[in-house]
Amino acid sequence: MSYVTCSAACARAPSTVIDKYLYSMRFSDETLHDIKCRFRRELENGLGRDTNTTATVKMLPTFVRSIPDGSEKGDFLALDLGGSNFRILRVKVTQDKKQPVQMESLVYETPEDIIHGSGTQLFDHVAECLGDFMEKQKIKDKKLPVGFTFSFPCAQTKLDEAVLVTWTKKFKVSGVEGMDVVKLLNKAIKKRGDYEADIMAVVNDTTGTMMTCGFDDQRCEVGIIIGTGTNACYMEELRHIDLVEGDEGRMCINTEWGAFGDDGSLEDLRTEFDREIDRGSLNPGKQLFEKMASGMFMGELVRLILVKMAKEGLLFEGRITPELLTKGKIETKHVSAIEKSKEGLTKCKEILTRLGVEPSQEDCVAVQHVCTIVSFRSANLIAATLGGILTRLKDNKGVARLRTTVGIDGSMYKMHPQYARRLHKTVRRLVPDSDVRFLLSESGSAKGAAMVTAVAYRLADQTQS
Ligand code: GLC
Repeated sequence: MSYVTCSAACARAPSTVIDKYLYSMRFSDETLHDIKCRFRRELENGLGRDTNTTATVKMLPTFVRSIPDGSEKGDFLALDLGGSNFRILRVKVTQDKKQPVQMESLVYETPEDIIHGSGTQLFDHVAECLGDFMEKQKIKDKKLPVGFTFSFPCAQTKLDEAVLVTWTKKFKVSGVEGMDVVKLLNKAIKKRGDYEADIMAVVNDTTGTMMTCGFDDQRCEVGIIIGTGTNACYMEELRHIDLVEGDEGRMCINTEWGAFGDDGSLEDLRTEFDREIDRGSLNPGKQLFEKMASGMFMGELVRLILVKMAKEGLLFEGRITPELLTKGKIETKHVSAIEKSKEGLTKCKEILTRLGVEPSQEDCVAVQHVCTIVSFRSANLIAATLGGILTRLKDNKGVARLRTTVGIDGSMYKMHPQYARRLHKTVRRLVPDSDVRFLLSESGSAKGAAMVTAVAYRLADQTQS
C-alpha cells in the first residue's frame, strides 16, 4: 500500500499525517523523565506533614504493614466493590503446600441506579448480595471474618475503618463521602438481621493486588491497577510517613495517583480531547491523570479524535454519522480489538462499519494508528509514574540496583494485546538501574482483601493466646 500520492488535504490520513496531527499525545523520553520527576515530587508532598493537606496525590496510609508470611490459615469472605464487577468470594487459606488458597466466587450486578443512588441503597444491596452468597455457600449460621476491597480513596486510621474521601470512576452515591464504609455496611447487615459478619479489613484494590502477589513472591512491594481506573500502592518506610506514629518498619501507601494533575501540573500535556472528556465527566477537574491513562475513557478519546479528523476531511471522506457522534459508541474493548496484530484491521472495519462511516482500507489503517497512539500514551504515562515510585524505592533502600516485583491487574493491562509489553519496556528504559518483575494477579484485588484479613486474624489470634 502506498501513500505517496496522498496529501493531508485528501480524504486519507497516512501514519505520518496522524503522527503530526496527534503530536501532543506522543511523548519523548525526555518528557517521560520529566513526568517521572514531577510525580516523585507529588509523592513527597503527599507524605509530608506540612504539605499533605494541600497535596494532590493523597498518599493514604493503609495500615497494612506486612505481606503474608505463609503461616496464615482460615476461612474468609471477601467483598470486591469498585472495579468492573461487584464480586463476593469465599477464600480458604490452608497450610497445604500445593494449593494453599482455594476460592469460590460469584459476580453480582450493580445496577446503574445503585451506582448513582443513595448510600443506604448501595449498602443494602451489598448486604443483600452477601446474604445470598452465604446462603448459597450454606454458611449463614457462621460469623466469618470479612475482607472488603473498596476501590476508592479512603482515609484510614486503622485497618477496619475507612472514611471515603471522594467517589471516583463511575460511582456517585449520595451520603457516603466523609463516612466510614465499615459502619455503613455493618448497619445494613444488622438491619437485615438474618446473618452476622465481622468486617476485619478494608483495602484498596491496589493493596489487594500487592498482597496477593506478595503471597507468591516475597519481593512484591508495589501494586498497580490499570482498568476502569488506575492507581498504585507501594511499601514506604514508616519514618517517612509523617501522618502515622512510629519509625520502624514499613507501611503500604495508597498513592491515589489518578488525581495527579488536578492542581494543573499536567496542563502542558493535556489535549483538547482530554479537556472535552473531563468536561463531560461526573467529576470535572478531578482525576485528570486517570482520565488520560485508564481504560474508562480510552475508547471515548479515540472517538473524539475520529470525529475531529472526519470533520476536517482526514477520514471517511468527511462522512460523520449520528453513531460516530454518540458518546460511548467506541469502547475500550474496541481499541483492544483494533490493535490486535492479525485480525485488527478486520475488526476495525467491522467496528467502523457499525458506526456507518463506510471506511476504506486506508481509513482502517489510519484508525488503527490513532488507537495505537492513544493506548501507547497511557502505557507511557503509567511507566513514568511507576518509574517515580521505583526510583523512590531504590533511594529508600540505598541500593545501586533495585530488584523488585510489581503486582499488577486491571482490564486494560490484561485485555489489550500490546499494552503490557509496551509498559514493561518503557519502565525498563526509564529506570535502567533496576530489575523489575511484573506479576499479573488474576482477581488479586479481592483475594488480597482475604489475605489482609488472614494476617489480621492471625495477629489478633496471637494477641489473644
Ligand atoms: C480509582 C480509585 C482508586 C482505585 C483505582 C483503580 O482511581 O480512586 O482507589 O484504586 O480507581 O480501581
